[in-house]
Amino acid sequence: MTYRCALITGASSGIGEAFARALPKSTSLLLTGRDRAKLAHLASELANAERTVRSVAADLATVEGRQAVIGFAEGQPVDLLVNNAGVGHLGRVVDNPPERESEMALLNMVAPVELTRALLPDILKRSGKGRRGGLIFVASAAAFMPIPLFATYAASKAFLLHYAEALAEELSDSPVDVLALCPGATKTRFFERASMTRFDSLHQMHDADRVAREGLQALGHRVVHVVGPTNYLATAAARFLPRRFVAAAAERAMRRWQ
Ligand SMILES: NC(=O)c1ccc[n+]([C@@H]2O[C@H](COP(=O)([O-])OP(=O)(O)OC[C@H]3O[C@@H](n4cnc5c(N)ncnc54)[C@H](OP(=O)(O)O)[C@@H]3O)[C@@H](O)[C@H]2O)c1
Repeated sequence: MTYRCALITGASSGIGEAFARALPKSTSLLLTGRDRAKLAHLASELANAERTVRSVAADLATVEGRQAVIGFAEGQPVDLLVNNAGVGHLGRVVDNPPERESEMALLNMVAPVELTRALLPDILKRSGKGRRGGLIFVASAAAFMPIPLFATYAASKAFLLHYAEALAEELSDSPVDVLALCPGATKTRFFERASMTRFDSLHQMHDADRVAREGLQALGHRVVHVVGPTNYLATAAARFLPRRFVAAAAERAMRRWQ
């Protein structure tokens, strides 16, 4: 499916940037993140005669930032929204700085909810007559299990997964497709930002390009897409094993990153 215009959050690096690069060269782009210089650089690199590429720097963990992005999208023919921006923070809830805990909740959950509610009516109006709209939520393989030492992050991704699945059902008779994209460990700045400094298995991680490409391929074909067979097996096992067992195993795995 070729979209007219995609709004991508967290487009200044990692998976969001990979989405911007993976979309067809005719799809106009609205790129957002906080790093103004990186966004402007990417916008000038990706602009061409067939499309416009605009960027806005805004902190989606703030009310003003979310309003700025919604205002930026108004009047643009957005028919694909990629809710990608997200952060994690390693540590016990009681030890983590309160502002980091709030940031995870606001950026990973409140921002996608507000952006989706604001943009969906016009995405619906623009779709139909052979054109489809799309909503992608970048959740995580972490969405399928309680994860001690990553409690708020994993819970925020579980929220996104359930939200996307429910929304897909609500929109099943409409020309708008919904996808919860669930990557496992992916080579981006995520780990450094999450204070997960002891990662030594970079070679086992997926590339952001693969994650974005699989997301675009899956949209319209399924509602949940877990990237990679190993992650798929882990998330499938987590659904059937006792929750306490899964949480204890997840805590042991997370201790490796401390
Ligand atoms: N990497 C992984 O292993 C992995 C696995 C599963 C799911 N995910 C999910 O994938 C998504 C993208 O992460 P990534 O791996 O690509 O990490 P990343 O390279 O750190 O990118 C995160 C993006 O989010 C933006 N962002 C962070 N805080 C923001 C804020 N307060 N307001 C607005 N934008 C903000 C960043 O923009 P600025 O730098 O401009 O602030 C950046 O563009 C996240 O939702 C993450 O949870 C990642």
